[in-house]
Amino acid sequence: MNLKTVKGTKDIFGLDSQKYNYITQTAAKLFEAYGYNRMITPIFEETALFKRGIGEGTDIVDKEMYTFETKGGVDVALRPEGTAPIVRSYLQHKIYGKEDFTRWYYYGPMFRYEKPQAGRYREFNQVGAESFGKSDPVLDAEIIAMGYKLLEKLGITDLEVQINSIGGKDTRTKYREALINYLSDKNDNLCKDCKTRVNQNPLRVLDCKDESCRELTKEAPSLIEFLDDAELSHYNKTKEYLELFNVKFVENKNLVRGLDYYSNTVFEIVTNKLGSQGTVLAGGRYDNLVQQMGGKPTPAFGFAAGVERLMLLLDDNKIEDEKTAFIVWMGEEAKKKAFTYAQKLRMAGIKTLLEFEDKSMRAQFKKTDKIKPDYILIIGEDEIKENKVVIKDYKNRTQESYHEDDILVALEGEK
Ligand code: HAM
Repeated sequence: MNLKTVKGTKDIFGLDSQKYNYITQTAAKLFEAYGYNRMITPIFEETALFKRGIGEGTDIVDKEMYTFETKGGVDVALRPEGTAPIVRSYLQHKIYGKEDFTRWYYYGPMFRYEKPQAGRYREFNQVGAESFGKSDPVLDAEIIAMGYKLLEKLGITDLEVQINSIGGKDTRTKYREALINYLSDKNDNLCKDCKTRVNQNPLRVLDCKDESCRELTKEAPSLIEFLDDAELSHYNKTKEYLELFNVKFVENKNLVRGLDYYSNTVFEIVTNKLGSQGTVLAGGRYDNLVQQMGGKPTPAFGFAAGVERLMLLLDDNKIEDEKTAFIVWMGEEAKKKAFTYAQKLRMAGIKTLLEFEDKSMRAQFKKTDKIKPDYILIIGEDEIKENKVVIKDYKNRTQESYHEDDILVALEGEK
């Protein structure tokens, strides 16, 4: 039997798993500095949650969910995204009654039955952040800035922040009419998908990647022109704060996002280095979702980034090896010392490697040429007698003898 990963899924190991850790840990640290706490929700939820949260008529709900019935007869789905579960959690634990501003971040796997290609998988990981309780546009700008800062911290460059406002429900109803009107005599030139989108979800025609659709929508009416005074002022303030936070952005009047829950500000951070899968981080305001899922009206804003896309963009050099020591030993007595020292070094956070079996000194040194540790600790016969150890600096090729009590000081004092 030839057992391998299922199409669209992958193992993450070696340098990639280091990158995964680096990205999620950098995100966690940064988001916590902004006052966000980690929220861990289940990998699967009732299917109804996503239908209600993301919206029927969206690609995710209609075509891409992994759904199944549990042995107990409950319809569940592997989560395709993190926002709907987070809102469920906010409501289930009545967080709204306990705090007036809630900030959560998360990371973990998501599942969508999409056509796999570079940067697009059926199981992929997201890091995301969601906040509840604030409608002030400074929050919109702060979260967009937080997403941008994450990419900056990861050293990812050549990015474009795109923003737009899609207003509230009334605005979109008016705009929808105008858009359908505009597209009415252009149906022949739309791609196959957009021919159905025009009736079901015409706004999605705006962000269709097909060349002829893009050409057609260039002249389409702009959502911004339909915003009411309050929506327009929110949008303008958001832009003002973004400038204050030094986040360069472009306005993309065709940016509408593929999920139904958004209102007002939407944004995407895109790169041209990943071909057609260029959106690295995306999100926006969703002031109606909490109510739509059974709660009181609660303003909310969030985003998510694709970890695999970040991994593709991350420079290999960003992954710095931790300080490493390799202990060379010979004979049973030296072995005991070596393993005791190793415990001590590891407890101090120094990666420490050593042979398990008795090997010649030569073989052990040969291994260090492969591992390239920062330090080689050598325990020979003389060292055992005097409770000493020779510490060799691998790069400088210098060495010195230390008493065993001073090993940590010797290693930690440097670098
Ligand atoms: P989304 O645009 O569907 O939004 O996904 C966010 C990001 O996840 C994308 O920009 C992309 O980087 C990554 N992504 C999506 N699908 C795949 C895939 N099949 N393979 C690899 N990466 C992928 C959301 O999921 C919203 N929940 C974001 C949000 C949070 N809005 C408000 N709060």
